[in-house]
This record gives sequence, structure tokens and C-alpha cells, in this order.
Amino acid sequence: MKILFLSSEVAPFAKTGGLGDVGAALPRALAARGHDVRVVMPCYRRVLEGNHRLRLLIPPMTLAVGPARLSFDTLEATLPGSDVPVYLVRCPRLYDRPNVYTQDGDEHLRFALLNWAGLRIAQQLGFAPDILHANDWQTGLAPLMAKTVFAWDRLFERTRSVLTIHNIGHQGTFPASAVHEVGLGITAESFHQEELARGRMSFMLTGLLYANAITTVSPTYAREIQTPEHGVGLDGYLRARRDVLFGILNGIDEDEWNPAKDRHLPHPFSADDPSGKAKNKEALLRELGLPQRPGVPLLGIVSRLAWQKGFDLCFEALPALFMQRDVQLVVLGSGEPKYEAFFGELARRLPNRVRFLNRFSEPLAHLIEAASDLFLMPSRYEPCGLNQMYSLVYGTPPIVHRTGGLADTVRRWNPMTGQGNGFVFDHFDARGLKWALGAAVDAYRQRRGWNRLRDNGMRSRFGWSERVVEYEDLYRKLCPPTA
Ligand code: ADP
Ligand code: GLC
Repeated sequence: MKILFLSSEVAPFAKTGGLGDVGAALPRALAARGHDVRVVMPCYRRVLEGNHRLRLLIPPMTLAVGPARLSFDTLEATLPGSDVPVYLVRCPRLYDRPNVYTQDGDEHLRFALLNWAGLRIAQQLGFAPDILHANDWQTGLAPLMAKTVFAWDRLFERTRSVLTIHNIGHQGTFPASAVHEVGLGITAESFHQEELARGRMSFMLTGLLYANAITTVSPTYAREIQTPEHGVGLDGYLRARRDVLFGILNGIDEDEWNPAKDRHLPHPFSADDPSGKAKNKEALLRELGLPQRPGVPLLGIVSRLAWQKGFDLCFEALPALFMQRDVQLVVLGSGEPKYEAFFGELARRLPNRVRFLNRFSEPLAHLIEAASDLFLMPSRYEPCGLNQMYSLVYGTPPIVHRTGGLADTVRRWNPMTGQGNGFVFDHFDARGLKWALGAAVDAYRQRRGWNRLRDNGMRSRFGWSERVVEYEDLYRKLCPPTA
């Protein structure tokens, strides 16, 4: 099938979180199944500054987008490990900025252009997609565009659209005037009228209304977002479309996240020979300047420091843990000031036990997953979560809140039966987290059980090759082969 895949993040070109991983791994997995996938993303400043091989594919075009005239040209790169083309929309006026996402007044325009450009590039190349696959609010306008302003073009006659929700907490909501500014004034009647009457428009809602199918990144999250508690105002619309709403668990990219051949690890290891794991821990502790304390568990955190991730529970649970137990902690992450301040302060107060690495570092993320004994991810909500899957296959049992994709991938360890792969608390409160931390540290002391627990995780099958067929089946249902 021919698939036009739009994403605001695609690793290694631009990544702020899991969308970047999925934006690369899913197209790669689809291509490996023989599909013709083309990926479109913005050419941010960091793409140009990265060491990527880029070539000019399409010379500048100018689009009238509402009152703005936007010029962009299209560069082409190849997704590493595949021959999937990545089309980079280069429009310095919108994308030559330090960050991928901004609070700037033209954020709606920045991503509206991605939608326009995706479809215009397909036209320029004569690429007739069977499937237009949009991801999150940033590409939520494309399904509507394909059905309205591009409908005259027979190229899109067969095109069916899919919108994948990676996070319903971000909806791309702007003042109603944005409908004109993004160049869709002529189809203003297609937007949700009550929303417009309330003075706003939303990219995500528009996508939910017009995509032929909606997916989200785990079965549990697919159910959760249909409830008022987790739907962030969109649950009613999702319930109305539940017959075309599917939860498909993310996979992990086994070329990137495989402890046996991870280029970021000084000591590769595997379920069959996990001995390298302890050496990675030694190496990390040395690098961090923390004392080597055999028998003392090292907890790891790698995360965006955002409200979603539930670190508020740590304010109470971690100081209590350090009072009661002998543990070490390493945190890699950046984000909201209150979490940065908390982990910074903890590291200052406990210089022999805690390190806070306040930055984004792909190599360190891999090393921490491999070197830690336990991985902490107390998310308030989690559409899928990749880090808990990485930690499982790296032999680092995760401690998680039972929500979204965490509920679908982590099963509570039962030392009696030897079943389970991690530590799960049911209620999002500090008591729950404290209980799970205590259970985890206790389990760590039971050597034999621990090895079994770790082995259960390391032998899990989370690869994309198992998941990609679910997308393929969905695409086929939407766009059956012509006779
Ligand atoms: P989310 O997409 O909500 O941030 P996921 O667990 O799906 O959560 O994906 C997070 C991704 O971002 C993982 O690949 C993780 O390793 C990476 N990541 C998060 N913070 C950092 C950081 N500070 N440095 C390096 N990688 C990070
Ligand atoms: C979002 C979610 C995360 C998910 C990722 C990739 O960032 O927060 O749970 O794993 O997207 O789908």
C-alpha cells in the first residue's frame, strides 16, 4: 500500500519524546512489510544542524495560507536502517527556531503548514496515497483537507485517513480566528460549530471528526479516553466514533533498543547472558561519581518532567524511601521547573546517593535503562509509554501506576508463582507509590526470585514486527485492494 505518514517528530531528525521513536519505527516496520511509505515532517533548525544527509527534492513553492504567504522547499533524507524517504518541509520563517514546539503566537500556522505541505508534496510527486496517516494534533487538519480542499484532485480519490492519538492531553486548541489563519476559512462550516461559537477551534477535534479511523497507542488508553476522567473534554466525540476507534500497542524498535547490540552500552548483555548488566552499572556509577555499593539497588528515571508523568508523588515518596531504605537514584530529564527543582534539591541533599542529569541525552538514556536495577515511571496517565518496555527488555523491572499502556505491559510480580515482570500500584497516590517502592526493594534482596523476575521482562516480545500487522489490517479494511 502507499502510505503518506505525517508526524511532527521523527527520530533521529527531531525527538522530544516517544512520538519521535514511533514516527521512525512504525514507518520502518511498514516498509519492511513491503509498503511504500513516505514520511513528512518539518525541517526544524535542529534538523539542519544535525549531521544528516539532506538533498533538495522540490524547489520552493509559495502557498497562500489564510492571509499569509508561506514559501517552503522540500528536502529529502532517508530514515536510517531503511530506504524510507523523509520529506522535510523547509520554511525558515516558521521552523528556524531553537525548539520543536513553541509558545509563539503562530504555533497554529507552524503545524498547519505541515498538513498543507504533506498533501502538496504528494501532488508534486504524483504520489497517490491509499492511507494518509496523521499523528497527534499537529497533523489533525490533514484528514479534513483531504476530504475538502484537496478533494478535486483525483490523486486522493482512494485516500482514507487514520489519526493516531499519542496524547490527548495536547489538543492544539486556538482562538476561532485560527480557522481563517490556517487557510481553511472556505471550509469553516466543516469545523465543529459549537466550538467555534465558544470562540475556539481544535486541531485534534477536527482530526477526530474527519479521520476515517482513529487509533491510539494502547488498548487500555483507547478505553480510558472514552471516559470523562481521561478524555480531556473529547470523550463524548470518541464514544460517538467508538466503532472506528482502535487501541494498538506501540512496539519497540529492536534495532535501537536491544541490550545485545546497543552501541551506547560499554557491556552488551542478553537474557541468556545477563552478566554485562552489572558491569554497565559499575560504569554508570563511575561516570556519575557515585560510590560502588554492591547489593544496593539503583533506581533509574528517564523522562520528560511533565505533569503527566506523575512525579508529584515523589515529593513525598522518595524522601521517605531514602529515610527507610538503602538505595541509589539517577534521574535524566528536563521539563517543568518544580520537578527540576525537586530532583535538583534531592541530589544536593544526598550527594552520595542521588544524581540529577538535567538534560536530554540519547546515549545516557540507553545506559541508564541498562545500568539501573529498577525503573521508576509513576505516570498519572500514560497513552502507551516506551520507557517501561525498554526497561523490561533491559532487565530493569519497572515500578508503574496501573494506567494506559503501563497497565497493558507491566504485570505485578508474584514471588509465589514466579509470574509478573514489575511493580504496579493501583491508586495514584503517594501511599501506592511507597508500597510499590518498598515491594520492589524487598524483592531485589531475594536473589533467586529477582533473577526470574528480570528474566520474565527480558524475554518479553515487544517488537514492532508483532504490532505492525495490526496497522496493516486496519489499512486494508479502510482501503481494500481494487480488483
Ligand atoms: P513520552 O512520549 O510521553 O515522553 P515515552 O515513554 O513514550 O513517553 O517516550 C519517551 C522517549 O523519550 C523515550 O525514548 C525516552 O528514552 C526519551 N526521553 C525522555 N526524556 C529523555 C531525556 N532527558 N534524554 C533522553 N531521552 C529521553
Ligand atoms: C506520547 C505518550 C506516550 C507514548 C508516545 C508514543 O508521547 O505520552 O505514552 O508512548 O506518545 O506513542
